[in-house]
Amino acid sequence: MPRSPIKRPPASLDLSKVLCNVDDLPEKLSSASLFGNNAPLEIEIGSGKGLFMTTASAANPKHNFLGIEIMAKYAAHSAGRLLRSRMETPESNLNAIMVSGNAEPLFKDRIEDSSIEAVHVYFPDPWWKKRHRKRRVVNANSIRNISKALRSGGRLHFWTDVLDYFENTVEMIAELAPEFGVPIPEEEAAADHDLDYRTHFERRSRQHQIPVYRVRYQRH
Ligand SMILES: C[S@@+](CC[C@H](N)C(=O)[O-])C[C@H]1O[C@@H](n2cnc3c(N)ncnc32)[C@H](O)[C@@H]1O
Repeated sequence: MPRSPIKRPPASLDLSKVLCNVDDLPEKLSSASLFGNNAPLEIEIGSGKGLFMTTASAANPKHNFLGIEIMAKYAAHSAGRLLRSRMETPESNLNAIMVSGNAEPLFKDRIEDSSIEAVHVYFPDPWWKKRHRKRRVVNANSIRNISKALRSGGRLHFWTDVLDYFENTVEMIAELAPEFGVPIPEEEAAADHDLDYRTHFERRSRQHQIPVYRVRYQRH
């Protein structure tokens, strides 16, 4: 399904507090280096339009959230959404930022072992063709890197509407990272109003009645 067009936020919106380029990031990514505190840090890979980042960070003010989005326009859009939602509740602390860049090298080299509370991957690009599968954001290397980054008891959430991606991921985790234990099915939230979706792609799947496969792991 093609993606809907996206607009950059207006230049008048100062995104400097909610949007970073990889080059501007601290050497190691942690709550201390990014937010100046020691709150649990949750990371989303591939934030798209940023719905999860905005709603999850507002709902969990005692956690910090880092969204990594490879497409600069989408990273800026997500940052704009975050900033606007914070303007509506100026008393809330700023516990979320977007990074414009590739998650893969950041997970490989820039995160302390056993430090992350949760990793969220929602509706990653499917890369349907077998020869393109290595481009998937969940692959053998990223599973090892995510496992290394998560603290004991930390969570990995993985949702997709691509059955083959889902089955492949569950198999790879069982084979390569048994420390994740058994997959825990996650339930669809009741959609009471238009933003009761975890992400935009979840909303699209529901509108078009496309099945979604949802799983969570809790690392040992
Ligand atoms: C299909 S969209 C889903 C967006 C969002 N998670 C949702 O559910 O609405 C996948 C997103 O992952 C981003 N992405 C793909 N590879 C990435 C990577 N290596 N690092 C960070 N983001 C990536 C894409 O640019 C795209 O915005």
